[in-house]
Amino acid sequence: MAAQTILITGANGEIGHGLIEHLAQRGSVRVVALDVRPLDAALQARCYRTVVGDILDPALLERLSAEHEFSMIFHLAAVLSTKAERQPGLGHRVNVDGTLNLLEMAAEEARRNGRDVIFLFPSSIAVYGLPDLEHKRAAGRVREAEWCEPRTMYGVNKLYCEQLGRYYAHYYRQLDQQTTAGRVDFRALRFPGLISAATLPTGGTSDFAPEMLHQAAQGLRYHCFVRRDTRIPFMAMPDAITALLRLAEAPRERLSHSVYNVGAFNPSAEELEILIRAAFPDTQVDFLPDLRRQAIVDSWPADVDDSAARTDWGWAPRFALQNAFADYLFPAVIERYRP
Ligand code: SER
Repeated sequence: MAAQTILITGANGEIGHGLIEHLAQRGSVRVVALDVRPLDAALQARCYRTVVGDILDPALLERLSAEHEFSMIFHLAAVLSTKAERQPGLGHRVNVDGTLNLLEMAAEEARRNGRDVIFLFPSSIAVYGLPDLEHKRAAGRVREAEWCEPRTMYGVNKLYCEQLGRYYAHYYRQLDQQTTAGRVDFRALRFPGLISAATLPTGGTSDFAPEMLHQAAQGLRYHCFVRRDTRIPFMAMPDAITALLRLAEAPRERLSHSVYNVGAFNPSAEELEILIRAAFPDTQVDFLPDLRRQAIVDSWPADVDDSAARTDWGWAPRFALQNAFADYLFPAVIERYRP
């Protein structure tokens, strides 16, 4: 049987890096990687084809769709929360119009080939919006249906695109006389902040955790833009990749939701600093909150309830706080910044 062809948008981003590395080890898939920037050289070799282009260019997507038969799409391209707050129009175009273009492409692909196209969408804890710290403390582990009142352009975009995906999966062209054999099989994860040893995020608001780690590993002082007691959920990048692939492979009939929380650990910024200092004793972190970015993380939950993902498709993170740092992050960043 021919290898299946998978499209990855935002392939040069953090999740794209991890996902492409992982898929390359499996060897049984052909990855078509799309990004507005040229893919890092090491990643290019792992892909069947790499394309520099914009998800806002429908003609490009049409061409790709004509040239390949995609069975699965990982739509990772996005403008993260801090950047989207500074450029809301851009955020909306990339995060919403871009996603619409990809869903259209997937629907057309499914119709033409007469089989479902699995569409993986990374959503975010940014879809939640807690009004203040008192509510955040009282809310504890937030479930998928609670507190969906985002306060950022990025969160609004992600929440809407979750709904858009659900629409394409279940109600798209519902007035047509004839239904098509293939549909968009939309599956979304609400990721917490992600921490990778290999890459740094750009333009996010959970960036304080990965930045603190990478600065300490280089012996550099870090000005942390949130308070010590700031607490949101995080996950090590290998678990984020596992979550995406597990959800992609789950039998459709097991999925009772189109959107799932996934959690792993949720240290405060101060607990992170203590942990990082234990590995890098010269760590220097100044907590100098940026009140506006602080307000964004304060509106995100302290933790998420991911029991639906655990029940429906067996989600279980490999890395808790201690082993994420001891077994993955510390050894890998030491290696990365070795002189
Ligand atoms: N990491 C993202 C951000 O900070 C949240 O999903 O924008």
